[in-house]
Amino acid sequence: MNESVTMAVPKGRVLEQLVPRFEAAGVDVSALTMRSRKLIRGGTPLRFLLLKPDDVPTYVEYGAADLGVVGRDVLLERAYDLYAPVDLGIGRCRLAVAGMNGAAYPPKAGEVLRVATKFPNVASRHFAGRGLRVEVIFVQGSVELAPLTGLADVIVDIVETGETLRQNGLVVLEDIAHVSSVVVANRVGLKRKRAAIAPLLDALRATIH
Ligand code: PRP
Repeated sequence: MNESVTMAVPKGRVLEQLVPRFEAAGVDVSALTMRSRKLIRGGTPLRFLLLKPDDVPTYVEYGAADLGVVGRDVLLERAYDLYAPVDLGIGRCRLAVAGMNGAAYPPKAGEVLRVATKFPNVASRHFAGRGLRVEVIFVQGSVELAPLTGLADVIVDIVETGETLRQNGLVVLEDIAHVSSVVVANRVGLKRKRAAIAPLLDALRATIH
């Protein structure tokens, strides 16, 4: 049976690391590497959907894709009903609290810390766990601007190389979680298409050193 499997992949940084991983697993990546604005690529045996990283788990959860590649940061921010079978070890970064060098962190008892972030749930959980009172301010990007302009005292954000923090005079104040990209699967799709999906997951697992 040559049933096609649909895999949702994130456009951007992680895709560059994903292509060699797919190649190592024997996956034909020509559809992914061609210059194109097409959002559906390839076909049989593997069809790719190119998505914003945050949308990948949504497509997989609803069964519009059988598989997806997503950062653990996205899965930490929102709960999805997904099976997460393979940690690819790519897209490595961390979620951290950052602020100005010398920032008063943790704040004095009773003070409310203002936190800017793209990860309001991660931030709320983290500070609640630390017993700190916070006001979480949601921003879409360029999060590092927040402490520089007085919008917030600290940020909760992704740190990969640390270059964005460095160039903006900020430092990590506390680590929250290590992040990497994982393959997630739709629970029903996994059962229904096991014959096609299981060998692909095994091949991807075999590329992890
Ligand atoms: C992410 C993140 C940091 C930066 C970290 O932003 O929010 O700003 O990358 O990477 P670094 O430690 O290697 O410098 P992204 O590039 O996704 O842009 P954004 O500001 O639009 O969210």
